[in-house]
Amino acid sequence: MNAQKEQSPGDIDQLNHPASPITRQLNPSGQISRRPFLKRLGLIGLATLPAGALLSAQSKSGNDRDDSRLSKGDVAILQFLAAAEILETDLWQQYTELSLGNEAFQTALEVLDGDMPTYVNQNTRDEFSHQNFLNAYLISKGHRPVSLEPFRKLPSSQATGSNKTAKRLTNLMHLNVDTSWFLRYRLSGNPDFGDTFAQIVDLNNVAGIPNSDLPLPSDPANGYKIQFIANVAGFHFTTVEQGGSSLYTSFLTKVTSLEVLRIVASIGGTEIMHFQTWQDKAGNAPALTDSAGNVIFPELPHAPDATLDGIDHSPPNATNQIMPAPCKFISSGLPLCSVIRPTSAKQAGAGAALAGLTAMGLFRGQSDAFLRFMAELAEEADEARRQS
Ligand SMILES: [Fe+2]
Ligand SMILES: [Fe+2]
Repeated sequence: MNAQKEQSPGDIDQLNHPASPITRQLNPSGQISRRPFLKRLGLIGLATLPAGALLSAQSKSGNDRDDSRLSKGDVAILQFLAAAEILETDLWQQYTELSLGNEAFQTALEVLDGDMPTYVNQNTRDEFSHQNFLNAYLISKGHRPVSLEPFRKLPSSQATGSNKTAKRLTNLMHLNVDTSWFLRYRLSGNPDFGDTFAQIVDLNNVAGIPNSDLPLPSDPANGYKIQFIANVAGFHFTTVEQGGSSLYTSFLTKVTSLEVLRIVASIGGTEIMHFQTWQDKAGNAPALTDSAGNVIFPELPHAPDATLDGIDHSPPNATNQIMPAPCKFISSGLPLCSVIRPTSAKQAGAGAALAGLTAMGLFRGQSDAFLRFMAELAEEADEARRQS
């Protein structure tokens, strides 16, 4: 069923702001030292919280303060995840506005799957819930939530459907989309063992959303332009969500509180659901040539039609091989196992995730202060160790 016509970007706004504990009163400062910087920028002091949130935090810290407060490592993990979710929310919000409000982009996404626009809207809703929950949880335990509002300065798409005057945290106009997950999840190697994987499509310095109104995909001369952007988006959705799947899994062995473990496992599970949905849709991206006949998006390795000879003839790299192929896990001496990969702190932790997002071009135009703030959050999260 395709229900996107009944939804609007306004649905997302209603989900966000009324329940959000995030205030918008912070200003970036000029001189920046290391850790104390976190206290001045981005981590909201309890004095700036809404009255209700402050009351909640104080009541928790009154009777059972020592029992309810979290370990330093757990707080660092939750604060990095809150920041990551705010960034996810920002990019997904941009995709939602265009996929619900721009006819050419919506039509091109529907080439990958008729439900793509409503799936984009649902993914965005989930990200809002992640950022809001993580910050509210931090407050409920008497810890500071995260705000990236001081860094919300990047311009919006000027295409129909976009909230053109809104300021953004992320840039979707010059993406370098790492498509190595396609082969990584279809082969037996694992980055945690040093294995590397080729790109299935080379997507460098490309847009995931239109910046101006383009012809429909059916336009015989220029329809390929919006279809290429939709193909990029389909792969970018997957790249973002597989990164989230690895990131959350990497934290499972580092948290101390069982309740935080439950949070990380449960939100991480939805990142995996997003990833799996998107990797199925990305495989439907059509091959494209430009008006000069140059191939600008290759034919993906589609599987042959099924036969009834009792044998699956799909090659390992076929688009229909979407279940995670068994791979090396824990030790190469153990049997191959179908798992999320990578999950090591080095390959999938906060620093790795931040490096991936940066290399993706998502922060193009962002300030050095933003990059330093995120790097400090990542460093503190990666320093977290499980306490007995
Ligand atoms: Fe999320
Ligand atoms: Fe996500």
